[in-house]
Amino acid sequence: MTGIRGADALVGETLNGRYKLLEELATVQPDGERRSRTGCYHAVDTKNGDKAVFVKAVDFRHEDHAGDVDRLQNMVQEFVNEREIASRCKTLSRVVSILDHDKAKIFGNIVHYLVYDFEKNRSRSPIPAHQTPVERVKTLHGIAAALRQLHTNGIAHHDLSFRNTVQGNACGRTKICDFGSASFVRSSGSVPHDEYPVIGAVDVAPPEAQYGYKPLDSRVRHFAYDCYSLGSLLFRCFLNREYSLFEDWHSFSFSVLCFLPEGQQPNQWCQYGEYAELIPILREASIKVVNDAIVGPTPEIEQDVKKAVLALCDPDPLRRGVHGLRRTNGNPYSLEKFVSFFDRLSRSCEVALAVGKARQES
Ligand SMILES: Nc1ncnc2c1ncn2[C@@H]1O[C@H](COP(=O)(O)OP(=O)(O)OP(=O)(O)O)[C@@H](O)[C@H]1O
Ligand SMILES: [Mg+2]
Repeated sequence: MTGIRGADALVGETLNGRYKLLEELATVQPDGERRSRTGCYHAVDTKNGDKAVFVKAVDFRHEDHAGDVDRLQNMVQEFVNEREIASRCKTLSRVVSILDHDKAKIFGNIVHYLVYDFEKNRSRSPIPAHQTPVERVKTLHGIAAALRQLHTNGIAHHDLSFRNTVQGNACGRTKICDFGSASFVRSSGSVPHDEYPVIGAVDVAPPEAQYGYKPLDSRVRHFAYDCYSLGSLLFRCFLNREYSLFEDWHSFSFSVLCFLPEGQQPNQWCQYGEYAELIPILREASIKVVNDAIVGPTPEIEQDVKKAVLALCDPDPLRRGVHGLRRTNGNPYSLEKFVSFFDRLSRSCEVALAVGKARQES
């Protein structure tokens, strides 16, 4: 007997006589936990000259057997949402391309799967430790450019991380992947995760989400969410390692919360206070964190990074982004300015590091 095998243990199998799954990627999480329902695979398309593809397979068997119908329904909706968002992004150059989707019967189980172009994988660590600071900022520039494409097409990502990027094989550019938490903001319907306060990883979620406050305007809610996460990634790139209290601790929002007393922490404040009352306190704490924790290769770069983090991570979603654009009826969450900023930043870091190295060697 073969035993029950879910979507997470299919290496060696061929889905629908076409996609041969060669190697499993990313089933074991960085924290060592194994997922039960999703499997990500490096595979080949045997009907297309063994072209390399990325297969994300899901089975709903676990929830089905557990009899949790609500959870099962949510998971199906989330899967369909991921498939639809990926299909909407097909033509975007900074986003992984979906090629196919289908279901297959394996050992009596139905497995649903999405097939993407296979791109070069990055490190699984939250900060790509193998990258130089310049490479990290270049990746960040790629994330910002990808996010701008998504936002322009009405899609919020909600789970920005270095892990959710790949490097395009053909173009060599950073591409964004993983639409598991994404939302099509213009759509009238919603996905279950639209109702969650924190949607993707909690460490890059904005404070309003952590305090359970949802801006009424869904565009503000979703696009301001991504702006904050982008600022958090910038913070990580320039974080003074000595500042981290714990190993692996590089979250901007958690650092800010450390300045707040017990009664103002999310679990306590949510019960009694309004989020708006906390905004000035969170802003003050953000300034302290930025001044204490960010180091740049030159004082000018450091100042620029601090300013950008504070703009992208303003605790008030209605002040976040390019605040000046609000006066002229522009879109403050438009990432145009930040895409150019990250581009300039990577160049100035490159120069600063080269100058530093030359000085050391002379
Ligand atoms: N098209 C692709 N080509 C190669 N690798 C990819 C591709 N898409 C995603 N990956 C890699 O596989 C990992 C898992 O994919 P994805 O993030 O979509 O799945 P997930 O189930 O949400 O996983 P996680 O919970 O780790 O985010 C990504 O972090 C990325 O490193
Ligand atoms: Mg992911």
